[in-house]
Amino acid sequence: MGLAIAHELASRGRAVTVLSRRRSEAAGFVAAGMLAPHAEGLTGPLLDLGQRSLERIPAWVARIEADSGLACGLRPTGIVVPFRSPAERDAYPTAAFGQPLDRRGLEREIPGIGADWQAALLFAQDGQIDNRRRLMRALERACVGLGVAFQEGAEVLALRRDGAGELSGVELRTAEGEQQRLACRQAVLACGAWSAQLLPELPLFPVKGQMLSLQGPRQALQRVVFGPGTYLVPREDGLLVVGATSEPQAGFREGLTPDGQSTLQKGIAALVPAASGWPPMERWWGFRPCTPDEGPLLGASSVPGLWLATGHHRNGVLLAAITAELLGGCLAEQGGPQAAAAIPGNTSGKGSEGLSPAERAHVLEAFRWDRFQHADPGHQASDGQPQPAAQLPAPWGGAPA
Ligand code: GLY
Repeated sequence: MGLAIAHELASRGRAVTVLSRRRSEAAGFVAAGMLAPHAEGLTGPLLDLGQRSLERIPAWVARIEADSGLACGLRPTGIVVPFRSPAERDAYPTAAFGQPLDRRGLEREIPGIGADWQAALLFAQDGQIDNRRRLMRALERACVGLGVAFQEGAEVLALRRDGAGELSGVELRTAEGEQQRLACRQAVLACGAWSAQLLPELPLFPVKGQMLSLQGPRQALQRVVFGPGTYLVPREDGLLVVGATSEPQAGFREGLTPDGQSTLQKGIAALVPAASGWPPMERWWGFRPCTPDEGPLLGASSVPGLWLATGHHRNGVLLAAITAELLGGCLAEQGGPQAAAAIPGNTSGKGSEGLSPAERAHVLEAFRWDRFQHADPGHQASDGQPQPAAQLPAPWGGAPA
């Protein structure tokens, strides 16, 4: 998320520094890269946000590829969601956006599909991108080409505010262990699952996911298969990325577990039994940043000058394109001393200009960080008293029970 926003801001001529504690923690390196608002069964404003981002992905990726000179591995493979019965299929939240398949249609789309699955939805509009091996590297190179500065291994320890309460800078510890103060009037908090360490009021908790990859034959699977609890994402060279456990109870506990890995192995055997025999390649884990309604926290924070781009839970890669555009718009509206500075090497011209300020404000309203605390005027009780928009688990420090 941080790289996508840095790229957008640099494309708009802003001077940007990326402060990154540990590259390997970034969810962008951990995810499977599914572009799946429909296959994930999203609903409400989150589905709308996902659809807007999906629409933008081809042009967004083309800009990154042009700026970096690297391919990102975007594949419009479509995604198949299998079900045990047609009734389950028809009850899926996004069923109206998919093509219903019977068992024969499913066998045609996913040769070797397990015997349990009797029906499916094909979401031809969903897809995937090779985030771990390509997109993240291309984004980094595009940012460097546009003049973005990087401080790797720099941990932000605290936010600084001036007398008026506005953001004035950050305290950080450099990779060499020195404590420094960096002055800035605008910053974007995109620390994923760790964002609440800097701003404890944020309703965020980690949801650990374990993953693995297998090397399959090149053309064995043409489409992503999104089963309950396990999904299979075939890259162009036959690498099969398999995800993912969902472990809110693990908190920030690192590492693979026998249970997590055997859950994935069982999922593979149920979805495409032959894949159980494909050679294993890698195993890894990461932490999704989750909120009580599983939607991101976007836009203004309680600290003037500090913007939020976090809480994207299962959909960070998908939502990077629209998030970059939204945050680029927020920061441009606020202006700033570097707003007019041209960055040498900007080959892509301007950043994206899709949403009008009014549309942007409308989209951001659904993803305010404090939406859980505010009474929702749209939800009035019969006595006319506003009702809380959502019941919150507490405390924020941990996962909901
Ligand atoms: N987007 C899939 C996952 O988070 O596992």
